[in-house]
Amino acid sequence: MNVAYPSPVIREGDLVILHINSQSLQAIKVNPKIKNKNGIFVDYCHQTKYGSFKVGSLVGKAFGSVLQLKDGFINLLHPSSELWTLSLPHRTQILYTTDISMVLLNLELSPGSIVCEAGTGSGSLSHAFMRTVAPTGQLFTFDFHEKRVETARQEFLEHGFLEPLVTVCHRDVCAEGFGLKNKVDAVFLDLPKPWDAVPHAATAFKTRGGRLCSFSPCIEQVQRTCAVLESLGFWEIRTVECLLREYLVRRMALPLIEPRAEEEGGPPRKGAKRKATHGAKLEEFRAVLPAVKATGHTGYLTFATFLPKEEDLKEEGAKGEDRKEEEDRKEGEDRKEEETKEVDKNFPEVMVTSVGATDVSVIVSAAVTTRSEADSSTSNVPDVID
Ligand SMILES: C[S@@+](CC[C@H](N)C(=O)[O-])C[C@H]1O[C@@H](n2cnc3c(N)ncnc32)[C@H](O)[C@@H]1O
Repeated sequence: MNVAYPSPVIREGDLVILHINSQSLQAIKVNPKIKNKNGIFVDYCHQTKYGSFKVGSLVGKAFGSVLQLKDGFINLLHPSSELWTLSLPHRTQILYTTDISMVLLNLELSPGSIVCEAGTGSGSLSHAFMRTVAPTGQLFTFDFHEKRVETARQEFLEHGFLEPLVTVCHRDVCAEGFGLKNKVDAVFLDLPKPWDAVPHAATAFKTRGGRLCSFSPCIEQVQRTCAVLESLGFWEIRTVECLLREYLVRRMALPLIEPRAEEEGGPPRKGAKRKATHGAKLEEFRAVLPAVKATGHTGYLTFATFLPKEEDLKEEGAKGEDRKEEEDRKEGEDRKEEETKEVDKNFPEVMVTSVGATDVSVIVSAAVTTRSEADSSTSNVPDVID
């Protein structure tokens, strides 16, 4: 299965997200059999609040289809990085979609970007990174917790994210750095002490610079990180907190209010209150209400730009000059070759006179083929002219 590229039909071994309702998602692997406590393989039955079903029965069903159960229905969804974030097994605190969307945009990522992430944690953000930079980009993700590294590696593999798209490394990035030099476009840090990893990030950036983001729950962490960023010459240092406020647009029906006497043209009555008449007609309208449950503080996102170094720019400029010269030279050669071909096409006989006898048949044959391709009326021209 490949989480990045949806397939239409569920196959054995696939990951399926069960949409029970808007508050409840469950991720299951389509393994028709599981071992029971006696070590015997039995049918794998999955239980939901609407009833149970045999997992093997999902094979061949379409992703997105409805599964009718005894007391209701559920939807069978293809995993996306957003759905995975909402249903993954938590091994650590994770980043959620509101922060993730801000990170992806502000790190200026697109297919082909090279990103470095520490720590991997539960792989929530890693999935979004991989989907964004695929198919030609790369994610290098680091964690110093060996078990988490192993689990993440296995999970990425099962979800179709393979090397070189992702490389999961077991390493303490604060102590040992990333082991990457002039390689990455963006660095993301979700660490207790991000300031210790920032100098290593500076080494990892491509010579033309890049973007950094550090996620920290506490403002004291932000202060220390910003101090180090500034001391290392990072620019555009900006910290944001994403607080999502959702609005619910709902159809509602309310009883019509009894009109006031003055609205009907009568004299105003002292102390008269509007009240809904019992059994009054209901009027339907759309109400817009802020959601009762709002997301609270998750963390602060600090973004910064690593500028290219002056000497690197000069070096890049010199390389660019050399590259340009080489390109100009190649272009000149290509043009000459094209012009020669054009002559071949129009005047094959001219070529005959200019080559040695032994090579003639081959060259003329090629020239005739070219001409016959361009103009089918020449198909009666013999293949080989002696
Ligand atoms: C909060 S979790 C990251 C969660 C991740 N962003 C996600 O969305 O799933 C932080 C991770 O950083 C790792 N970590 C902490 N200090 C580290 C260090 N110095 N080097 C590498 N990993 C580190 C921890 O083991 C932990 O797994």
